[in-house]
Amino acid sequence: MTKETKELKRPSGRGLTEMRQMKAKVGVVPNADGSAMFTFGNTIAIAAVYGPRQLHPQHMQDPSTGILRVNYDLLSFSVSERKKPGPNRRSQEISKMTEFALLPVLDIKDFPNTVIDVQIYIIQADAGTRTAGINAASLALAHAGIPMKNLICSVALGKLDKELIIDLDKDEEDFEGGEGPTDFPLAKIANSDQFTLIQLDGKIQPERVKEIIDLANKACEKIYEVQKKALKEVIEQ
Ligand code: CDP
Repeated sequence: MTKETKELKRPSGRGLTEMRQMKAKVGVVPNADGSAMFTFGNTIAIAAVYGPRQLHPQHMQDPSTGILRVNYDLLSFSVSERKKPGPNRRSQEISKMTEFALLPVLDIKDFPNTVIDVQIYIIQADAGTRTAGINAASLALAHAGIPMKNLICSVALGKLDKELIIDLDKDEEDFEGGEGPTDFPLAKIANSDQFTLIQLDGKIQPERVKEIIDLANKACEKIYEVQKKALKEVIEQ
């Protein structure tokens, strides 16, 4: 570790690779077919799964497979500056990329002409909402009994000046020093080296990607432990 690294302080006071406290709970929406809550510090995501059920209108059905439909919603009161209710470009983009992140582990070929709806509600936001949403959705799909090869774990990396940091909060995401703000959300199949999502907002040198993948792998191991514990709690009830 360089002298410079030792002196760097995250706005949150956390160590460079220290994650926020995580919590997960399965079965939080009794009327849904599956549901879960996942938190990174002050970011709270709830996911509820409905289906598989017949897709309407009929012309949207696919006779060769079921369809995954994600709707991510950052609620108006979840952020300090009230957000106008309803969908916008950001929520549409996050809904789509959440579908891409989750689909590789789903085995829904045996549900032709159906849709599996995943509603993700961010009830409190302090950055990392898409990654918390993916973690919650992965648990909710498992809870709904949708055939899955594995769970999906997701976390965002970023930079504090030139140093990589994990699981940024809003102050850290907005940090303007050094090379500027960088947000690097990732999702991967648990216990594997397969990534299902890599996004980049900001700048990163290509030779540092390996470093990012290593840090993401370590973070995802911790996320997976939290997810497994939450699923076990509901199975043992
Ligand atoms: O939440 P995530 O980091 O996945 O996505 P983002 O688009 O980079 O948003 C970062 C953070 O900005 C959110 O988590 C919220 O804390 C905040 N935000 C906000 O205050 N108002 C909005 N309309 C959208 C985001």
